[in-house]
Amino acid sequence: MASRRILVTSALPYANGAIHLGHLVEYIQTDIWVRFQKMQGHEVYYVCADDTHGTAIMLRAEKEGITPEALIARVLQEHQRDFAGFNIAFDNYYTTHSEETRTLSSAFYERLKAAGLIDVKPVEQFYDPVKEMFLPDRFIKGECPKCGAKDQYGDSCEVCGSTYSPTDLKNPYSVVSGAKPVRKTSDHYFFKLSDPRCKTFLEKWTQEDEHLQPEARNKIREWFEQGLNDWDISRDAPYFGFEIPGAPGKYFYVWLDAPIGYLGSFRQLCDRTGLDYDSFVAAGSTAEMIHFIGKDILYFHALFWPAMLKFAGYRTPSQVYAHGFLTVNGEKMSKSRGTFITAESYIEQGLNPEWLRYYYAAKLGAAMEDIDLNLDDFVARVNSDLVGKYVNIASRAAGFLTKRFGGKLLPVQPTLPQIHAVRAAAPGIAAFYDSREYGKALREIMHLVDETNAWIDGAKPWELARDASNDTRLHEVCSQVLNVFRLITVLLKPVLPKLASSVEAFLNTETLDWRSIDTLLAAGHQIQPYTHLMTRVDTKQIQALTAANAETLQPAAASPGKKKQEKTVELGAQIQPKDEQKGTDAAKPPSPPTPLPEGEGKFVAAEAATITIDDFSKIDLRIARIANAEHVEGADKLLKLTLDVGALGTKQVFAGIKSAYDPETLKGRLTVMVANLAPRKMKFGLSEGMVLAASGDAPGLFILSPDSGAEPGMKVK
Ligand code: 2FM
Ligand code: ZN
Repeated sequence: MASRRILVTSALPYANGAIHLGHLVEYIQTDIWVRFQKMQGHEVYYVCADDTHGTAIMLRAEKEGITPEALIARVLQEHQRDFAGFNIAFDNYYTTHSEETRTLSSAFYERLKAAGLIDVKPVEQFYDPVKEMFLPDRFIKGECPKCGAKDQYGDSCEVCGSTYSPTDLKNPYSVVSGAKPVRKTSDHYFFKLSDPRCKTFLEKWTQEDEHLQPEARNKIREWFEQGLNDWDISRDAPYFGFEIPGAPGKYFYVWLDAPIGYLGSFRQLCDRTGLDYDSFVAAGSTAEMIHFIGKDILYFHALFWPAMLKFAGYRTPSQVYAHGFLTVNGEKMSKSRGTFITAESYIEQGLNPEWLRYYYAAKLGAAMEDIDLNLDDFVARVNSDLVGKYVNIASRAAGFLTKRFGGKLLPVQPTLPQIHAVRAAAPGIAAFYDSREYGKALREIMHLVDETNAWIDGAKPWELARDASNDTRLHEVCSQVLNVFRLITVLLKPVLPKLASSVEAFLNTETLDWRSIDTLLAAGHQIQPYTHLMTRVDTKQIQALTAANAETLQPAAASPGKKKQEKTVELGAQIQPKDEQKGTDAAKPPSPPTPLPEGEGKFVAAEAATITIDDFSKIDLRIARIANAEHVEGADKLLKLTLDVGALGTKQVFAGIKSAYDPETLKGRLTVMVANLAPRKMKFGLSEGMVLAASGDAPGLFILSPDSGAEPGMKVK
């Protein structure tokens, strides 16, 4: 078979949120495909990067009180750690905030401009006069124009489900500062997708050529019928991204440089390794370029991206493979149910990443369908198929071989029906992997596993082992079993690379690739003593996982009635982004993080119930010196306090005491803080504790002061 040269990508995750099980569907799907192709001997490069630009990332960094560069550097480390944890083997993982991507973005733009495909047009948008920035739709809230529900986003109502544009909202306000937005016009740069050249090219590329799944093609036909609009590729400062050459204060919209980031990452790989970049990327390249994506970003990858490539003089994608979304237990991932599970927590709870790889693979097909992670089914399948059936094959033979025959194998005939069966099934299984029908591949493999177990049941090694006169037969059977196990391991290796590598060590065999199916372990081959290859999932681990991801602090509704009951006010507002998984100001699919306005989601203490002394002692109350106190730009109620807590160091706390104190009068004062409150990311930065204050029905807030003699860091008991 001729060797293929393939550049493969997965969608670039945003650099403002954690990798979660939803993301992993795609990375696992792609990684399996890449590993399979590499096992076939093809030349494959799998590249990806963090998607680092946009308003959401800029604001998130501001909220954390750090620069966007510091935020994306931290998140890059976290993402790389999580991907490594799930054995996602990128050949290069980079960032879009790179010189490579900057240079390429400018080159794309200049070439599109030279081709007459860039236009400048005025656009009227909502503008935050306090923050002095244009507001993406999801950063505007107001009353739903249809049902009147309050606090709805600028693009859709979560109460009645209607969609509209932000200018339709009643009483709109900026989510960033709370200010009433005004309408303002500025010049925007457009990629002229409505140009007849683009239309002609895209109609052929999407409808006639075979680059898309049938259902994707149909979806795009619908979009064609609605007409292609020019695409707004610029955003005004302030924006975190690349400034457009020759257009001061105008930045490339994040979705312009994101796909270019695929090439930026590949460029870096080529520069690092001496690989020929142009042979993969230049127009006329005979290599393949394949993008794995989620169905929500089809528009960008099947329309904008091919047109950008084509008219900037590059090759176009060979294939765009879109997958569906993940549901957990049949529902959208939910923080309150604990099913919004991060990659980090999965690993931290001690769950084996290969269980998830196996489960996803068993569910994945080539279509754009959603897949469900049913946690009970997950436990059952992993335990019964993977451990109970496949791993069991090895454990049924290994002990006898080691204990009775010094771990040395007898020769095995290639004509053995079970070996023949595996070899005969391999090409069909390879075709399933190649066409992303992993569920079908695993069904075939499990069928072989079942047949193998049935054959072992018939050979009864445990009975043979009872009588020494059967030793040769026992030795023969166990040698056959381990050879078959090795062949089945080859078939599973794209899905279970780590397990396969443990099998390679146990069988003392070469690094398995697809050609290993044609060979058998030689007579006298020495295996290593068997150690457990994989443990079973314990349902307790799943319970611990959902508990670890469940959000326990539900913000109470701050109704006036309830407010009257407040005895102690928590001064740092409990702010949780509604949805951390996506973050961009994309006009279309992804929904951005939605920082709540100051004060929203405030946790209101109910009437105090009785607690034990043990409950009380969980709270680490400390004397703190207010080393610094300052106003927070854009915050109506908060002061930013820097607290010296003696041996505990310095802590930053946002306290809602602006109405009661001039920051200058607080500097140097001693007070009392809760030092072991989990740090909370607020709109303006990280709050690392809470300062206590008293309040009653009458206006006024009064922070506490210790008696003289108290020192920073002392415990309050
Ligand atoms: O939807 C998303 O998560 C985007 N960050 C994907 C970008 S993919 C590519 F175009 F860079
Ligand atoms: Zn509504």
